[in-house]
Amino acid sequence: MTTPSAHGRPIFMRHWLRDPIGIGALLPSTPSVARALAAQMQLGRTGPILELGAGTGTITSGLIAGGAAPERLILVESKPELVDHLRAHYPGTRAICGDATRIDAVLGEIGVTQLATVISTLPIKWFDLEAQRATVMPCMKRLGPGGYFVQITNAPTSPIDYRRLRINAARVDAVWFHFLPVQVWRYWLD
Ligand SMILES: C[S@@+](CC[C@H](N)C(=O)[O-])C[C@H]1O[C@@H](n2cnc3c(N)ncnc32)[C@H](O)[C@@H]1O
Repeated sequence: MTTPSAHGRPIFMRHWLRDPIGIGALLPSTPSVARALAAQMQLGRTGPILELGAGTGTITSGLIAGGAAPERLILVESKPELVDHLRAHYPGTRAICGDATRIDAVLGEIGVTQLATVISTLPIKWFDLEAQRATVMPCMKRLGPGGYFVQITNAPTSPIDYRRLRINAARVDAVWFHFLPVQVWRYWLD
């Protein structure tokens, strides 16, 4: 495994030039954001850790450094070239080329019925309500009560419309020294 922030930058920026909204950020996240997200993992719960919008793997590196066995990580990413990159750099993980708004089918196809934690860097604030629902609620069903769907954002407010989805939400962390400050949100069911 190479240095997380270095190996993926050119490929990430190339994708940003082609599809800035779909990629959602000019640069991959920094190791400090990866550490903040790794701290949200609930390693004591049963089931895989699901990473949504894995990109070139900067967060994946942080999750592994934070104690997740690669075999426990399911990485979902919609851009095939980035999935090839993930498969090359993160052996042992399950990197799936798929659309997070179809996560129920994606997880159904590989027989995943339970999740420990979901870590998302998707540009979810740009998803409409139904796309947010289709992404978040199948994860909630597999997380069960007490399992966290964790999402970062550069916005000052929740990137997920949790009131209309009728789920709980709290801002739990922030990384201020970043090219754009990052807020970390947690969502869960009672
Ligand atoms: C802001 S980037 C984060 C990349 C990486 N995790 C990081 O933090 O540097 C968002 C990623 O989500 C992916 N993405 C966007 N919409 C998606 C969708 N509907 N399903 C799966 N991946 C998606 C993009 O291709 C991109 O790699």
